[in-house]
Amino acid sequence: MIRVAVLADIHGNLPALEAVIEDIASQQPDEVLVGGDLVGRGPCGKDVVQRVTDMGWRSVRGNHEDYLLAFRHQRVRSHWLTAPEWAAARWMAGELGEVAASTLEGLPLTLLSELAPELRVVHGTPRSNSEGIGPWTSHEQVEAHFSTVAEPVLVCGHTHRPLECRLPDGLVVNVGAVGLPFNRDRRAQYALFQMGHDGVEVEFRQVAYDLDRTFSDYETSGFLSHGGATARLLLMELELAAPFLVPFIEWARARGVRPLESEVGAFREFYDPDESFRAFSCRLKELEDPSQSLPKPSRP
Ligand SMILES: [Fe+2]
Repeated sequence: MIRVAVLADIHGNLPALEAVIEDIASQQPDEVLVGGDLVGRGPCGKDVVQRVTDMGWRSVRGNHEDYLLAFRHQRVRSHWLTAPEWAAARWMAGELGEVAASTLEGLPLTLLSELAPELRVVHGTPRSNSEGIGPWTSHEQVEAHFSTVAEPVLVCGHTHRPLECRLPDGLVVNVGAVGLPFNRDRRAQYALFQMGHDGVEVEFRQVAYDLDRTFSDYETSGFLSHGGATARLLLMELELAAPFLVPFIEWARARGVRPLESEVGAFREFYDPDESFRAFSCRLKELEDPSQSLPKPSRP
């Protein structure tokens, strides 16, 4: 019976990764694979890349690997190289250093398990590392992604929310996030697959770790002081295990303001992390066009 652990979305959170390494050691899987986003959205990307390399674990390349490499090579819009709203990305790209950056450059977009070749790992979907399969993805869309791969077990990350979708011919699993979960559970999360004669069993694991160490990394590394609004919003994501950064950017766009630190307080007044994405989008539309105003949706 082959057992494979898959973890993803570590996001520069070294204490969370170390807790998962310890938990994986207690589970003794036959193979461990990483679903990308080792870096970005957090302060210790270089150390995370080193730790994963030391463990000998293979990884795919997530969108945040691409993102920070683009900053390192200055393959971004020229004003992003100086604008304050991109300060966190510049800081994280610089923090990586040459060795980690060249490791990330070499990562593939997709991986097959060596011991369980029926299992394929991608970051987002088989066609893109920047689109995700989440609770909002329709069954038809999941089937459409699944139909583009030959293997019966498709494993992904990216949305930071664990998910298991059984299909007539196989299985699609999102393993959730190690470093920055968005399912209101602050613990580090990953999945264990057991490939048996009767099919594949999935166990979602949640590992408690010392979040105060991660908060301290934000401060001592300089990420919080250099990262502007982005670093502050990522800290909220860690604390509440819910998305803040992307909603903030969308809110700023709807209001026609730049996503700067001075706007974070007003955003917090507006934003409810438990509101559905659909309800939040409706309220953003009202901001853009007040004539379309609808009553504020009540929370369940
Ligand atoms: Fe991610």
